Amino acid sequence: MRITHLFVLLLVVSLSASLALPASAQDGGATYKAKCAACHGPNGEGKVGPALKGTSLTADQIVDLLTKGNDAKKAPHKKAISGVADADAKAVADFVKSLK
Ligand code: HEC
Repeated sequence: MRITHLFVLLLVVSLSASLALPASAQDGGATYKAKCAACHGPNGEGKVGPALKGTSLTADQIVDLLTKGNDAKKAPHKKAISGVADADAKAVADFVKSLK
């Protein structure tokens, strides 16, 4: 009986912990798939856009590119990528850095 209660409590706590994060900020891989893969390839191997796996850019530089854009870059990176909030950008940048 006690153990069951403990289990239910743990379940509730872990569920609410995962609900506390905005869905968008959780999964850089999902955002990458939705927003980047069409141009950079599902595994960062490059397509219309250059390969991203093994990029020499730091995660912070990637966040900057996504949230601010860079006038020296070609479209779509002249401007911030729409629909990618700061927290998403960080998650996506970390995901990009994890591509091998
Ligand atoms: C419409 C196609 C397109 C989409 C969508 C796109 N990119 Fe790009 N990306 C490009 C192109 C083209 C370049 C090259 C720009 C240049 O060098 O001027 C580039 C360059 C980059 C670079 C710089 C690479 C380097 O080595 O300098 C990074 C990092 C990058 N993209 C990340 C992303 C991420 C992360 C996303 C998703 C949030 C994304 N891009 C979405 C086309 C795209």
